[in-house]
Amino acid sequence: MELFDVYPLYDVTPVKARGIVVTDDQGQEYLDYYGGHAVISIGHSHPHYVKRLSEQLARIGFYSNSVHNPLQHELAEKLGRLSGCEDYRLFLCNSGAEANENALKLASFHTGKARVIAFSNSFHGRTSAAVAATDNEKINAPINRQQKVSFLAFNDLQGFQREIAAGDVCAVILECIQGVGGLDEPKTSFLLEVEALCREHGIVLIADEVQSGFGRSGKFFAFQHHGIRPDIISIAKGMGNGFPVGGILIHGHIQPSHGLLGTTFGGNHLACAATLAVLEVMESEQLIANADHLGAYFRKKAAAIPQVERVKGRGLMLGLEFGFEVSDLRKRLIYRQHIFTGSAKDKHVLRILPALNIGQEDLDVFFEALKTEL
Ligand SMILES: Cc1ncc(COP(=O)(O)O)c(C=O)c1O
Repeated sequence: MELFDVYPLYDVTPVKARGIVVTDDQGQEYLDYYGGHAVISIGHSHPHYVKRLSEQLARIGFYSNSVHNPLQHELAEKLGRLSGCEDYRLFLCNSGAEANENALKLASFHTGKARVIAFSNSFHGRTSAAVAATDNEKINAPINRQQKVSFLAFNDLQGFQREIAAGDVCAVILECIQGVGGLDEPKTSFLLEVEALCREHGIVLIADEVQSGFGRSGKFFAFQHHGIRPDIISIAKGMGNGFPVGGILIHGHIQPSHGLLGTTFGGNHLACAATLAVLEVMESEQLIANADHLGAYFRKKAAAIPQVERVKGRGLMLGLEFGFEVSDLRKRLIYRQHIFTGSAKDKHVLRILPALNIGQEDLDVFFEALKTEL
């Protein structure tokens, strides 16, 4: 059988990885400044992560959500404490799209309404409501277009007021730092107005923290840079450091009931162990502070490169904007410098999303390689 060929591939075959070093089948080492789309948060094959997952697998890897799983409670407690979101409840699933799908579905159940407000250049995943709320017609199939989604530009407060006036909106979903879109952010004043209007009109505010969460932005969640409190927060990517796990944090005012949401694999023993290992490393190695500190260092170094027109993002969720399209530069960085970086919907933006425990010297290596290729 052949694979269903949907991914354009770089000609690299990784066979092992440790920290930010990825080794291919020829023994060539690459430095990973992209973490496989922001997934690797504590470094590849972190010893604590490997130990915790291996021990868990030897004990029990999976049982369904029809029996008690104390690891889920341990995870909810630790996640609530480390993120400052103790007044939320946790629902676990398996990916970012599934997290947003559940967030939107829950908002619709909660309000009895169906229309969603999303933003230009958003990316929320490829499932039904999540893809409809994603600003990319190419991946929105006819079956998904029956969803009711209105798109607005960030900071268009008048447009927002106009859209909610009809009274049929269940949810507003937004990324406080856009990932795939290219690192754009709404203004704090806009977010505060949106939060207040959502509260006044009974609309569920969803922060998509699938990419920006788990410390990447230099705070546990990117919305925390703005002082808002979303009703639902979606998480995935860095949460499992490569183990497929996602979830939503649901504010205490939204009540659960049996059967409302569900999934076979979500919150299984291995997924909980992976996420707990990530949180334990984040805490012991103070990775949020490191992301914040190194983000500032990165900006300073980037500002000294004449070809860089703008540095975007926060913490270690970063983008370099150039006056040219970056696809060739990315190829040169991979094939000549052996460095992984990422692209964005905005073709002028090079995305940098390394593990949160990289060091300053790793960023120095990146900038030397970048300067060589520029
Ligand atoms: C902000 C955001 N939300 C949702 C998703 C979808 O996540 P997944 O690919 O795990 O379904 C992504 C993936 O890039 C993302 O960046």
